[in-house]
Amino acid sequence: MIGLSVNGIAHSLDVDPDTPLLYVLRDELGLNGAKFGCGLGQCGACTVLVDDRPAFSCLLPVAALEGRKVRTIEGLGTPDKPGALPAAFEAEQAAQCGYCIAGMIMRAHALLERNNRPTEAELRGHLAPNLCRCGTHMRILRAVRRAAVAMGGGVKEETAL
Ligand code: FES
Ligand code: FES
Repeated sequence: MIGLSVNGIAHSLDVDPDTPLLYVLRDELGLNGAKFGCGLGQCGACTVLVDDRPAFSCLLPVAALEGRKVRTIEGLGTPDKPGALPAAFEAEQAAQCGYCIAGMIMRAHALLERNNRPTEAELRGHLAPNLCRCGTHMRILRAVRRAAVAMGGGVKEETAL
């Protein structure tokens, strides 16, 4: 049995230790927010937080998560009571097909939780590993800026030297 903590809930799972975390979340726990995009750590659709840092769940064997804290988009609120980032993504209509969005939100959450006043360059650099095949990156950036304000901060404009 593998012990796994997801969104503050402890699970004991009878799965192959090599199973990627993404499959365990989706197939064993019914948490379908994180998506399978490439399975190779190249798109970010599967991004979740592990010990508060963004991680590609398609690459992580579940056995490596014993004793660590996993968070998924399902832990950021509900459709009736969305967290700051899901609400901002909705307000900015940031999703087109929506496939990348849970991963984008989780990666952005890792940044804003640590620093709700990043610079524009920090924000863009932080989100760079996550791709949107629909090309809605500008709306995604607007949504994260909006969420930063809602979380008591804001994204700082770069000042020319
Ligand atoms: S599915 Fe994990 S990075 Fe693409
Ligand atoms: S909204 Fe379609 S991949 Fe990003």
